[in-house]
Amino acid sequence: PELSILRVPFDLGAGRKGVRRGPDAILQAGLERKLRQLGYSCELPDPVPAPSTAKESGVFVPQAEPRHLNEAVKVNEALAVQIKDVLERGRFPLVLGGDHSIAIGTLAGLAQHYRSIGVIWFDAHADLNTPDTSPSGNIHGMSLAASLGIGHHRLTRIGGFLPKIRPQHTVIIGARQLDPGEKELIRAEGVTCFTMHEIDLMGIARVTEEAVRIATAGTDGLHVSFDIDSLDPLEAPGTGTPVKGGISYREAHLALELLYEAGSVLSAEMVEVNPALERDNQTARLAAELISSLLGQRIL
Ligand code: ARG
Ligand code: MN
Ligand code: MN
Ligand code: MN
Repeated sequence: PELSILRVPFDLGAGRKGVRRGPDAILQAGLERKLRQLGYSCELPDPVPAPSTAKESGVFVPQAEPRHLNEAVKVNEALAVQIKDVLERGRFPLVLGGDHSIAIGTLAGLAQHYRSIGVIWFDAHADLNTPDTSPSGNIHGMSLAASLGIGHHRLTRIGGFLPKIRPQHTVIIGARQLDPGEKELIRAEGVTCFTMHEIDLMGIARVTEEAVRIATAGTDGLHVSFDIDSLDPLEAPGTGTPVKGGISYREAHLALELLYEAGSVLSAEMVEVNPALERDNQTARLAAELISSLLGQRIL
C-alpha cells in the first residue's frame, strides 16, 4: 500500500498560533519509520502552501465574517486539489494539520473523487458552528458544518460544489463541549454524536462499531478526521482548546485499531497538534502512535 503524507501548516483557523508546526512535530516523532515498518511506502510532497502572516482581526461579533476567511479559503482550495491528485494516483491520503479548518479541503478533494463518503470526526467539540452561532469567529469551529453545506458560502463552496458529506453518514465521537447552535444543528440535521456520555455508557468498542456502520451505510467508505483534543488533556496537553474528561489513551488506540480492522477507511487526517503549548513533543509523539494504530500497528 502506498501513502501520501500531506502537510498543511495552517493555523489561522484557530484562536492560538503554533499549530502550523504540527506536521513537522509529528514527522519528528518518527512517523515515516513507523509506517515503513508497517509495510507502507510513503511519499512526502512539499507542504500545501499555507498563508501564515495575517493581521490580527479584532473582536468577533456574531454574524460577522469568520476570522482569516481569505487565507482559509486559499489553503483549503489548494489542499482539495492535492487530495484529488493523490487519489487519482491510487494512493492513500494522510493529512497532517494544522488546525481543524483544513478538513474542509480534505473532504472537498475526497468528495470529488468518490461518489459518497462517510466521516468519523473524533473531537471534544463538534465544529458545527456557523458565522451566526460561533462564539469565536474561528473557522476550525465551523469546518464540519461547512462540509455539510451549512455556513459561510465561501467555505461551503470550496472545490466549487456542496455539500461534501451528508448528516446521515456523519458521526462525531468524543464530544464534551458543544455551543448552543451546534446542539440545535445536531438535532435538526440528524448528525450522530457519541458524546463522552455514550462512550462511558456503551464502551468505545461498541461506539466505534456503530460509527462504522453509520458512516459506511451506502457510502464508498469513510474518512477519519482526528482532532487530538478528543483525547484527555492529561494525555494530549499540546493542543489549543483542551477540554477535560476526554478519551483515554487506551480508548483512542482501541477505536483506531478497530477502524483499521473494519477495512473501510479511505483517508485520514490528524489535526490540532500544537507543539508550542507543551514540552518534549509529547502530543506529537502520541499523534504518530495513533496514526500507526489506524494504519495497522498491533501489539502482538
Ligand atoms: N466551539 C468553539 C468555537 O467554535 C471551539 C472550537 C474548537 N475547534 C477545534 N477544531 N479545536 O470556537
Ligand atoms: Mn475540531
Ligand atoms: Mn476540538
Ligand atoms: Mn465548536
